[in-house]
Amino acid sequence: MRLSSNIPPYLLLLSVSQHKFPRKRTYLMCSPKHFDVTYAINPWMNPGAEVDSELAVRQWDGLRQTLVDLGHTVHVLTPEPDLPDMVYAANGAFVVDGTAYGARFKHRQRVAEAAAHQAFYESEGWRFVAPGEINEGEGDFAYLPEAYGGLILAGYGFRTEPAAHAEAQEALGRPVVSLRLVDPHFYHLDTALTVLDDRTVSYFPGAFSRSAQRVLAQLFPDAVLADETDAFAFGLNLVSDGRHVVLNSEATGMAAKVEAAGYIPVPVDLAELRKGGGSVKCCVAELRR
Ligand code: ARG
Repeated sequence: MRLSSNIPPYLLLLSVSQHKFPRKRTYLMCSPKHFDVTYAINPWMNPGAEVDSELAVRQWDGLRQTLVDLGHTVHVLTPEPDLPDMVYAANGAFVVDGTAYGARFKHRQRVAEAAAHQAFYESEGWRFVAPGEINEGEGDFAYLPEAYGGLILAGYGFRTEPAAHAEAQEALGRPVVSLRLVDPHFYHLDTALTVLDDRTVSYFPGAFSRSAQRVLAQLFPDAVLADETDAFAFGLNLVSDGRHVVLNSEATGMAAKVEAAGYIPVPVDLAELRKGGGSVKCCVAELRR
């Protein structure tokens, strides 16, 4: 091209390497039609608080529409009346290479959600592996297709049992790295660590044990580091397609950090769902073929 004829090739290469490419995704979500805070199983939940489920539905639908407008496919599960946390669809399974490793919830209030997810995967023809160990699906598992040939990161300490990490490795045939979570505010991995693109993570070190911090620093020297303010604003609980980063609009510091790293922040208001202790990522499970 004429315009670029004076630009040295190494600079062109540099700008190409910094460009972030989106990949079309398939997601699963579940409407907060029956969302409520009637029990407390994490420090964010206050059963006395007023919950506006209609507002929650409007905000949730804004998130769903945002993902659709970015070109992604969004499947929806039918919400069930006695399962007020069912909106947090990320917890129902963990899907890699066409196999869904099912969830087994820690708290009795959420146990029945697992069957709804299982029925979805089975009816849609996915290979489904029933879990023997306590695990809360993509809440505690993350996948990086291009790091080390395909790597699973897994959290434990509050919900998912370490034994489930080994079970996931058997079910999915990808190496699983166990990371211990130490702050109850960040009780699921997806509140403290996120996958920005196929090989890049962002995380808040303070949510992890010293040893887990060392492991993360060793594996991901180029990670985008988040701070406590970002994490408390649910800034890490985001969904990225590799270029567009959909995140809670309250997480302005995190939006600035992902933008500086070359991504496009797409803020959405999901304030009502924070009352249950979750945000964008909690509401979205990724289905990976
Ligand atoms: N109230 C739900 C719980 O405590 C919130 C789950 C949030 N989901 C997530 N993927 N972090 O289980």
